Amino acid sequence: MRLVFIGPPGAGKGTQCKRLVEFLKIPHLSTGEMLRAVKRQETALSRWVASYIDAGKLAPDHLVMRIVAQRLQSDDCTNGALFDGFPRTLIQAQLLDDYLADQGIKLDMALELKVVEEELIQRLLRRAQIDGRADDNYETIRERLHVFNTQTAPLTEYYSSQGKLEQVDGMQAEEIVFEAIKQCVEKRS
Ligand code: AP5
Ligand code: MG
Repeated sequence: MRLVFIGPPGAGKGTQCKRLVEFLKIPHLSTGEMLRAVKRQETALSRWVASYIDAGKLAPDHLVMRIVAQRLQSDDCTNGALFDGFPRTLIQAQLLDDYLADQGIKLDMALELKVVEEELIQRLLRRAQIDGRADDNYETIRERLHVFNTQTAPLTEYYSSQGKLEQVDGMQAEEIVFEAIKQCVEKRS
């Protein structure tokens, strides 16, 4: 199964993917985590990547696709993958579709997690106190939400027109959200 998670910052993409890894036995590919790993290396590339993620802006589409394509070549991705926070633009969605088509495979489902803005802000400000992620401050959270609404939200229409979209209410408790996601997975597998 190849599954894309779409949801604003704080929707619970990472949280639910960690649970699904156990259930589906396929790897969790978070482009946010991959880019933060690049940021931790002290190179010119890492400073360039940091200039995007610390400002809450999207990294360039082709850079992200290159990182994902490299990861997809690993053996553990043969049977599927959970894409967390990727694709995030229509161009990335097309690049992914093209990449998979070249391999003779396709996405099975795009799952949208829906959570209202006030709740997202509260979750991220709470997480800031625990994890200290550089982009979890009020100003950058607002920018990330704006970027989501303008650049990523249109992906729901893209996947809906392919008949691949499922929507889950992400306002519920983590376990209930997970049960709803499992039902979508079972329906599609
Ligand atoms: P990324 O790391 O993907 O961050 P994000 O999309 O902003 O989302 P978060 O990781 O903040 O939230 P989440 O949905 O994973 O929620 P979580 O489970 O942690 O991207 C970071 C940056 O990298 C981007 O801004 C961009 O610069 C760059 N980037 C990444 N991908 C890119 C791409 N494809 N193209 C270009 N640039 C890219 O949950 C949040 C909190 O809420 C946690 O504390 C959790 O415990 C809590 N929580 C979770 N579920 C619930 C629940 N049901 N009830 C109550 N609390 C909950
Ligand atoms: Mg995340």
